[in-house]
Amino acid sequence: MNLIFLGAPGSGKGTQAARVKDRYGLPHISTGDILRAEVTQQTELGREARAIMESGRLVSDEIVLAMVKRRLAQSDCGAGWILDGFPRTRAQAEGLRGILTELDSDVDLGVLIQVEPEEVVRRLSSRRTCRGCGKIFSGAELAPDGGPVPAEGVCPACGGSYYQRDDDREETIRERLRVYEEQTRPVVDFYSVEDKVVEIDGAQPVDAVSDAVLSILRDRFGERE
Ligand code: AP5
Repeated sequence: MNLIFLGAPGSGKGTQAARVKDRYGLPHISTGDILRAEVTQQTELGREARAIMESGRLVSDEIVLAMVKRRLAQSDCGAGWILDGFPRTRAQAEGLRGILTELDSDVDLGVLIQVEPEEVVRRLSSRRTCRGCGKIFSGAELAPDGGPVPAEGVCPACGGSYYQRDDDREETIRERLRVYEEQTRPVVDFYSVEDKVVEIDGAQPVDAVSDAVLSILRDRFGERE
């Protein structure tokens, strides 16, 4: 089962991809996570990517395609994978097709999570991510009384520390949404012409979105053993 999660920043791709990973035991490959790890480790690539990511623009197709090619060649990807945040341009979609042809493989399904832009801004402004376990939290989970969510704090899942991503500031979120409309929408069309895209209403609560995603996967690929 080879899946790609499509949708605007903050639509819930990472949240849902993690749940599908737990259910089906497939590797969850997030190009954003790989790039953020490079930034944290201060590699040459990380230093190059940092300013681009903080501005809300996209890292070059060449860099991202090379990263994904290396990752898909690893042994844990043999039985399937979940791509999150990739492909993000038409050139990346075409590049992925070339990589998969060499591996005698293909994309089975694109899951497009639809959410309105103002909801994206609301969600991302209060999103926090754990440095330790990687869990993504909504503002409502960390401050159920509706109060302000601190930029940093203790992760309720693992006791590590959560933080606010540098690109989750309103001005950058709006730029990411603009880039999504301009450069990533065409990727949806790329897979739609092959009849490989299913749309999910991402405005529903997280569990309802998961139920919708998992129900589609059950229908198409069967129950997990
Ligand atoms: P990346 O990390 O991929 O960010 P993104 O695509 O902008 O997506 P997000 O991680 O912001 O959102 P998401 O859809 O995963 O939502 P989440 O589940 O976290 O990319 C970051 C940057 O890296 C890019 O801008 C670019 O510079 C670079 N990059 C990455 N990939 C690249 C590529 N292929 N090419 C070039 N450059 C690339 O949920 C968001 C929040 O909402 C969370 O708080 C969550 O708890 C909450 N939430 C989730 N679902 C719901 C729900 N149903 N109801 C209420 N709240 C919800």
